[in-house]
Amino acid sequence: MPKLKNDTLIRALLRQPTPYTPIWLMRQAGRYLPEYNATRARAGSFLALCKNPDLATEVTLQPLARFALDAAIVFSDILTLPDAMGLGLRFTEGEGPRLERPLREEREIRNLVVPDPDQHLRYVLDTVRQVRKALADEVPLIGFSGSPFTLACYMVEGGANSDFRNVKTMLYNRPELLHHILEVNCRAVTAYLNAQIESGAQAVMMFDTWGGTLGTAEYREFSLAYMRRALEGLKREHRGERIPSILFTKGGGAWLEAIAASGCDTVGIDWTVDIGTARSRIGVRVALQGNLDPAVLLAGPKAVHNGAAAVLAAFGHGAGHVFNLGHGVSQFTPPESVAVLVDAVHDLSRAYH
Ligand code: CP3
Repeated sequence: MPKLKNDTLIRALLRQPTPYTPIWLMRQAGRYLPEYNATRARAGSFLALCKNPDLATEVTLQPLARFALDAAIVFSDILTLPDAMGLGLRFTEGEGPRLERPLREEREIRNLVVPDPDQHLRYVLDTVRQVRKALADEVPLIGFSGSPFTLACYMVEGGANSDFRNVKTMLYNRPELLHHILEVNCRAVTAYLNAQIESGAQAVMMFDTWGGTLGTAEYREFSLAYMRRALEGLKREHRGERIPSILFTKGGGAWLEAIAASGCDTVGIDWTVDIGTARSRIGVRVALQGNLDPAVLLAGPKAVHNGAAAVLAAFGHGAGHVFNLGHGVSQFTPPESVAVLVDAVHDLSRAYH
């Protein structure tokens, strides 16, 4: 069994001791990097980039060539799954993602089927395999999926909007229809994440970007319950290695105890939660990932250094912290700020281990 040269991420996700706090960033590959924009231009579009394993591998590795990151995350998007379900994904400049055939009719909802990842998401699995080969066990590779509820938001709305009018109306008027979508999504997410694990993903993360827009009872019933079921169906080990899972509900700070009881190994938190408080609430059960405000990266090297120091101090001494932002890297981030952050986390965190 090949051993990882840098296994700090896997160890921290499992709350095992490490010499320093590992760091990776959500959206670490993206538009803030000029080399990403160049590769995307070569691909022709964002979606063509996702669907080309050679180019997707190239952009996955770009941030690792610049910064001493402790993990890679496969370059893809959460919306490739609804695309594989036949909803038709389009990305238009400045408008964000759109699904061409959103779910509005009961008949369409009843006809939804779980896609076979080996067939309809083969390009993602090929990218996972190629990235693993290129990484040569230097750092681990993270696979990911949207949560069943967050995917349902896009599938019903057709895109992201601020009020989630259609999906919330369905939730209150026709809950059995939304439950049916979530049921299918849950099986699709489980199959997709397991296929990524079998192709070489060494940790997996579920992005619940929109769960935080729900009320407490609705969050438990329509988002958390399905994430828990998806986690129950995941392979916990592959080729003798533990595969840690990360669950991130943006805006989920009020529900940390329930999230920590879902069966995940690590809970991702956004910057609205104090990470020290989060640790005292759930730190005996799970590791924590987060939680610097991505806007700090826009404010210059001194702010970045101070921001890193503050998050590390708030978490305090001991194992079980993976440094990250509280959400994705902004496209307006100067790459030099990411370099400052990664180095600051590596240097300053040694005192806490
Ligand atoms: O983290 C990584 O580096 C891996 C790649 C990754 C992308 N999207 C690439 C991407 C990951 C993990 C995602 C997840 C994703 N995608 C989420 C969950 C996380 C979150 O941000 O809340 C969501 C909600 C999406 C859906 C999505 N994709 C939106 C809303 C947008 C438009 C907003 C934007 O930033 O443009 C995208 C596009 C997208 N996904 C880009 C990238 C690099 C930018 C596309 C471009 O190059 O034009």
